[in-house]
Amino acid sequence: MIVSKDPNEVREQILSWKSQKLSVGFAPTMGFLHEGHANLFVRSSSENSKTVVSIFVNPAQFNDPEDYAKYPVNTEGDLEICKKSKVDLVFLPEKDTMYPGGIPEVELKIPHLMKNLDAITRPGHFEGVLLVLSRLFHSIPADRSYFGKKDYQQYLIVKDFVKALGFPMEIIGVDTVRSPEGLALSSRNARLTDSEKEEALLLSRALRLGESQIRGGEKDPQEVLNVMKDVLDSSSKITTDYLEILNADTLEELHILKGEVLLAVAAFLGQVRLIDNITVRVS
Ligand code: PAJ
Repeated sequence: MIVSKDPNEVREQILSWKSQKLSVGFAPTMGFLHEGHANLFVRSSSENSKTVVSIFVNPAQFNDPEDYAKYPVNTEGDLEICKKSKVDLVFLPEKDTMYPGGIPEVELKIPHLMKNLDAITRPGHFEGVLLVLSRLFHSIPADRSYFGKKDYQQYLIVKDFVKALGFPMEIIGVDTVRSPEGLALSSRNARLTDSEKEEALLLSRALRLGESQIRGGEKDPQEVLNVMKDVLDSSSKITTDYLEILNADTLEELHILKGEVLLAVAAFLGQVRLIDNITVRVS
């Protein structure tokens, strides 16, 4: 496994693979890797000759400086997971290499997908994600890039962004990996106490209950939201940031449930903000 901090070296290696007609898959990450990330790497390995992973905690996408400062880091453990998942190249850029001269003043937006959810509650977050991805895609001109549906809005925005800017790259969405109890795996879970982890299960429980209401024939999004809200409100440790039901393709609001719908939640447990979602096809 090649490990490099140098964007030029990484680009040369990838161009060399491509000139040998080897396909390249890419999974960008912020490290502190877990099975959710590893699942992206394994999927990429199964669909491409070479798999590249980047690990970079991107300061441009944190709207809360404390969240950035406390973001967990474990480079040695991350490299072990990459090796086990058959990753061929790990790109580990430094902050000054990604942003020489600091974070530039530029605003990247996909306005129609940035009207709600994290785009509102974390101002500037997706602009920072699109900035770092643009830079990463220059160094890593992969054929396919892999994104988790755990960050569903990010996945949709990136898919549209790549299309809008004409990056010759396919964006592939991968299902959320959960703990056996249902908690969506996240690097931020490491900051939860044992009792907070227990309470955090209410997020996925609320989503599953919403899903069963919909499968039971409920067509009024407000009714489904009320049931889900009761689950979250049953814990005094949970502060809900948003709870929404939207069209899963456009993220538009729904007055009646039909087609593919997204049930999305964000909540604070103490200082830690968690997100989760599921999609349901309404028959
Ligand atoms: P990060 O949170 O490290 O996530 C990297 C990738 O792993 C994302 O595509 C995310 O959706 C996916 N992922 C995380 N947890 C997952 C889970 N439980 N199941 C499936 N996939 C999961 O997302 C980012 O980093 C950053 O915004 C990034 C795209 C790297 C830009 O900085």
